[in-house]
Amino acid sequence: MGKARILILGGTTEARALATALASRSDLYVVLSLAGRTADPAPQPVPVRSGGFGGAEGLARYVRDEAIDLVVDATHPFAARISANASQAAADCAVTAFVLHRAAWAPVEGDNWLSVHSFSQAIAALGTAALRVFLATGRQEAHQANSAPQHLYWVRSVDPVEPPLTVPHVSYIHSRGPFRLADELDMLQRHQIDVVVAKNSGGDATYGKIEAARQLGIKVIMVERGETAGLPVVETVDAALAQIDHFVSSRIKRGV
Ligand SMILES: NC(=O)c1ccc[n+]([C@@H]2O[C@H](COP(=O)([O-])OP(=O)(O)OC[C@H]3O[C@@H](n4cnc5c(N)ncnc54)[C@H](OP(=O)(O)O)[C@@H]3O)[C@@H](O)[C@H]2O)c1
Repeated sequence: MGKARILILGGTTEARALATALASRSDLYVVLSLAGRTADPAPQPVPVRSGGFGGAEGLARYVRDEAIDLVVDATHPFAARISANASQAAADCAVTAFVLHRAAWAPVEGDNWLSVHSFSQAIAALGTAALRVFLATGRQEAHQANSAPQHLYWVRSVDPVEPPLTVPHVSYIHSRGPFRLADELDMLQRHQIDVVVAKNSGGDATYGKIEAARQLGIKVIMVERGETAGLPVVETVDAALAQIDHFVSSRIKRGV
């Protein structure tokens, strides 16, 4: 029997951790797919392919051409298009697929969150009076701030925001997580931030700003996730590994 061929759709810490856990397995061939947006991506433990597939049809073509047996959608919970494409392509090719999405954060005592369902709602919720806003929603969504130029923005992203925002008061912070609580406390205090705009990504790497906002009594406008695309979902790398083991053993039983 040949190796089971697994495509991990990545771009997240979890995808990298899953690839690391699978890299030494002699019964698997694992390829990790990245969107190719980040100029200097972190090194990966398995072979990488990079760039869009060309929609659900393109992804289905790739799955067929590469004889992929299992698709793991380990993309970011806010990467909705690729997840919808993964679900569609897996159905079209009749291959097994599941989603690895870390659990969303839930508010705890002391948090002051306003939950919204889109980035435009988040910016509208800032109101009319000028505020000092830490925008931690990523560079693609940062452009929503152009509709509320009265605020002062600190925008953090891995790569530069292109084109730059048109608002008169904006500072860019280029850095890649994980972000430590102490640094987040320092950053929010140094810039005298009034409100944090964040998306409910879940996970530890970017939770520091949420904890820091809680400690400093700063409000968080939290953009919540949309629905997932119908595939089974696991929330941890260990659960994904168990799913993969289950897939491999059922493949052995079927003698594929
Ligand atoms: N959105 C976030 O907040 C966020 C945060 C951290 C990391 N990321 C990572 O950044 C990447 C892009 O996110 P996004 O929100 O722009 O995604 P998206 O809106 O769901 O996807 C847009 C298009 O990018 C391509 N694409 C996305 N992820 C891909 C992957 N892993 N491999 C190959 N092509 C991919 C697909 O192009 P085609 O249709 O041509 O195949 C997809 O239709 C994802 O890999 C995601 O995991 C996203």
